[in-house]
Amino acid sequence: MAQSTRIAVTPGDGIGPEVVAEAVRCLETLRAKHGLDIEWTRFPWPSHAWHEEHGESMPADALAQLQKYDAILLGALGDPGPMDDPDRYLLPDSISLAPLLDMRKGFDQWVCERPARLLPGARQYLADERAKDIDMLVIRENSEGEYVSQGGRLRKGMPDEVATQMEVFTRKATDRIIRYGFEQARNRAADRVKEGRTRTFRTLDGRTCESQVCLVTKRNALRYWGDMYTEAFDEISKEYPDVATHHELVDAACMKFVQSPWAFDVVVASNLQGDILTDLAAVLSGGMGVAPSCNLNPTDPDMPSMFEPTHGSAPDIAGQGLADPTAMLFTAARMLEWLGRKDPAIAAAGKELFDAVAADLAENSGSRRGTHEIGSAICERLSQ
Ligand code: IPM
Ligand code: MN
Repeated sequence: MAQSTRIAVTPGDGIGPEVVAEAVRCLETLRAKHGLDIEWTRFPWPSHAWHEEHGESMPADALAQLQKYDAILLGALGDPGPMDDPDRYLLPDSISLAPLLDMRKGFDQWVCERPARLLPGARQYLADERAKDIDMLVIRENSEGEYVSQGGRLRKGMPDEVATQMEVFTRKATDRIIRYGFEQARNRAADRVKEGRTRTFRTLDGRTCESQVCLVTKRNALRYWGDMYTEAFDEISKEYPDVATHHELVDAACMKFVQSPWAFDVVVASNLQGDILTDLAAVLSGGMGVAPSCNLNPTDPDMPSMFEPTHGSAPDIAGQGLADPTAMLFTAARMLEWLGRKDPAIAAAGKELFDAVAADLAENSGSRRGTHEIGSAICERLSQ
């Protein structure tokens, strides 16, 4: 018999355990309802609590342990809160968040997918009514670029100190992320057709396409990787004549995300530029409380992908049952869809969870509900 699908649940810090608890309840409900062949194990690390006890955020063999799983469901890492406790155990961000980057790199999760769709019921921050049509997928290069963590500090603490922080861009990682962007553009166009929705994007030569990929760089100032990205984009785009292409400099992209975000479909950006753009995209589509995220390794089936909401540990509201679990639940839905590549019943459960969370959002627009209340409403919906 095939081995069941196994999930490593790592709740982390702050609101992480609160929102993860609701995700696990939804998973339990779906497993019982459909007899899904999934199981999960909860890990107390990485976390501040583990660091306080053991002097490290996670055990030395953490990645080896996690690699035995098909996916990792991560809550949040960072300041555990509450903010009004000056004696709480705190770590510098670079230490508490390192496990996140270790997992992304260690499992070569080279794609970070962050969809930004303003769903009915989500808070609309932009006044323009066309904001209702926001539906983009930001694809962030997740394996290198500005995040390679190479460099150092010379003459530390001296007036003539020097800090270097290297950026590394390889053609291999460039090609694969751009190609992934085009594939997603095609998939999204096909899904829209199935749902009876259409979108049109103009190409420079006046044709219209059902989908688009916008490449973001800062090639007017950072020309070496900017030019390499542009050349790779131009070459790969020839394989996708059905997908419109577009380029924005990252500063102009920020402006256009606010001015006309409904004009974007798939956006491909570097690690840091994608990081910044996706906080902005999250707000455009309802805020951090509803923004899902995932770190994928689409090429190596032996490497687990990691699913975490875009939000952090939110120490200002941690421990109070106030965190919105919606982002976590959308993220869990995406995880099931991803795991469903091997087992269609799991994929169907992912779609069911997404629909239940979206319906809950639409029906409870603007209502003030606690973490557990939202989780219960969604579990009840799933049980029907
Ligand atoms: C994110 C976060 C992380 C990142 C931090 C916590 C290192 O901001 O997942 O977007 O920059 O990737
Ligand atoms: Mn970020």
